[in-house]
Amino acid sequence: MLEKVLATAEFIRGKMKTQPKVGIVLGTGLGNLATQITDRTEIPYQEIPNFPISTVEGHSGKLILGKLGGVDILAMQGRFHYYEGYDMKTVTYPIRVMHELGIKTLFLSNAAGGMNPNFEIGELMIINDHINMFPEHPLRGHNEEKWGPRFPDMHEVYTHSLIKRAKKIAKENNIRVMEGVYVGTQGPTFETPAEYVYFRNIGGDAVGMSTVPEAIVAHHMGMQVFGMSIITDLGVPGKIVEVSHEEVQEIGNAQQPKMTLIMTKLIQSL
Ligand code: HPA
Repeated sequence: MLEKVLATAEFIRGKMKTQPKVGIVLGTGLGNLATQITDRTEIPYQEIPNFPISTVEGHSGKLILGKLGGVDILAMQGRFHYYEGYDMKTVTYPIRVMHELGIKTLFLSNAAGGMNPNFEIGELMIINDHINMFPEHPLRGHNEEKWGPRFPDMHEVYTHSLIKRAKKIAKENNIRVMEGVYVGTQGPTFETPAEYVYFRNIGGDAVGMSTVPEAIVAHHMGMQVFGMSIITDLGVPGKIVEVSHEEVQEIGNAQQPKMTLIMTKLIQSL
């Protein structure tokens, strides 16, 4: 896999005019953050050697090199999900490539269901920890020592100093943000009422089908990680309503400017 990653990075480096400082993964309904990127070079996934191709509706599948708030970034519009049928090495492949390109900080975004009874629909949640419920681990198998240790410590996957700064930025801009634990699960089903209760009981505030594998792999390689969820539906007893992918996208889109603002200002502060 190392050789493949090197070849992919080599190709992307050939398109880079500047060194991106931050990698950003845009989740469901959050692709509009991409419209704020200036000085852009777009590379569709299908043109990138060894890159997987995104299949799900709402993910257009391209890398965007450019600037966000004046800072050089590399954004993934469309991520790879386990539920699409990819194995975990494939899901996290772009993160290996970002690291190879010299990116030291990763921003992850997603849409998630909220289990915390204090949450409302449309809530923004800064991820301060996660629970990995995926049936396959992205670090299973041969460990590439060049990337990181066989048994990575996990006590601070989501960089505390970034969380602190993001909360300050939110406060200064009168944006309500919550903080909490993201449970990563395989999907593609949303949760049954009993499953939401279960995920709440094991310590989760929100649940979704992404982010955890990417955060693990980034952390394995020593990258700083910052993650945010938009709570698009609630799995709180008494408040549970039917949920659809369209609704998740709609609420994600509506709340996205607030998240864009926090992320942009956070990137500018790095
Ligand atoms: N569960 C899992 N994934 C999700 C949800 C949810 O309720 N909402 C958005 N993504």
